[in-house]
Amino acid sequence: MNDVILDLNGVCKTYTRKRDGKRQEIKATNGVSFQVRKQHVVALVGESGSGKSTLAKLITGIERPDRGDIVFDGKSTNAWLRGGSRTYRKYVQMVFQDPFAALNPLSVVQYAVERPLVNYRNLSGRELKQAVLRVLETVHLTPVDEFVKKYPFELSGGQLQRVVFARAIASKPKLIVADEPVSMLDVSIRAEILKLMADLRDKEGVAFLYITHDLISARMLADEIVVLYRGTVVEKGNANDVVRKPMHPYTQLLLKSIPNPWAPEDVHLSASERPKSGSASTGGCVFQTRCPHAMKKCSEGAPTLSDMGDERWVACFLHDGASSVDAGQDELDYTE
Ligand SMILES: Nc1ncnc2c1ncn2[C@@H]1O[C@H](COP(=O)(O)OP(=O)(O)OP(=O)(O)O)[C@@H](O)[C@H]1O
Ligand code: SF4
Ligand SMILES: [Mg+2]
Repeated sequence: MNDVILDLNGVCKTYTRKRDGKRQEIKATNGVSFQVRKQHVVALVGESGSGKSTLAKLITGIERPDRGDIVFDGKSTNAWLRGGSRTYRKYVQMVFQDPFAALNPLSVVQYAVERPLVNYRNLSGRELKQAVLRVLETVHLTPVDEFVKKYPFELSGGQLQRVVFARAIASKPKLIVADEPVSMLDVSIRAEILKLMADLRDKEGVAFLYITHDLISARMLADEIVVLYRGTVVEKGNANDVVRKPMHPYTQLLLKSIPNPWAPEDVHLSASERPKSGSASTGGCVFQTRCPHAMKKCSEGAPTLSDMGDERWVACFLHDGASSVDAGQDELDYTE
């Protein structure tokens, strides 16, 4: 598809660490495949340790995969990065969780936004000044001539994250990887930043990989959702469909554990039912130790991510056709 800006194919990354003198391997991502289309938002959702930030680092070229391909705008990241990272960084920007840490406390906003304009677009003088003001207007930091003079300590968390987005879009990127960009902000301003990202997609044509723990914000912003569990994609599809009718038992569990005033009472889980870290499975389905529907075959082999139609993909034996079992999932209304 030529409208694809990012294409991951079987991406694997294993880390090794020593614990109690023993060498331990951690499969942070294990054969991850998904695509991001131009001017679309894909939300990558999963609990802590599922491999989201590892994927962010692999996509942005901070780290390299052990196996698998990452293709950006028709060219592998290896090819992009062969002659240095400058051009790739112009087109693929990253926004981190903590806007306070992302900005130099000793530099004013003008300086933060100027850098990418100088480095990637070779602007200078009057042109540079005007571009800074334009970028700040795009992220709604107005009046711009006041904001350019401010230091980070003079700004709120939401305003700081707007500066970070201004800096990210200054190079005119085609993709922004945003790793939990709202999780450190007050609840009241999270929606504003999500709205800003939606505006940047719609008006500036930027595609986003939005990384989050939160399926509800994923549904608010994203066009598609990819659900990751222990480095494996267990479900992906249209954002509305995944949230309204989750098919994988892990996605169902994630949704049921969200306190939601609009959800019917019976979908709320007690504290003891909520997702917690399970022990790693040694073979078979990655979710088997926590799955309420686990069957004998789930420990004998791993389900593959299968096409369910309507652009929905699920990795679960309950949905492999041959042994279809009713998982008991109702349509969950988390919409309004
Ligand atoms: N540099 C590293 N060395 C060793 N292990 C690592 C390294 N980076 C990540 N890991 C491990 O890889 C797994 C995935 O980590 P990752 O940071 O990608 O998860 P995450 O989904 O971003 O989690 P969170 O939601 O907490 O940010 C974890 O088990 C983590 O401990
Ligand atoms: S394959 Fe089996 S263990 Fe895995 S999610 Fe499906 S039913 Fe549960
Ligand atoms: Mg992370």
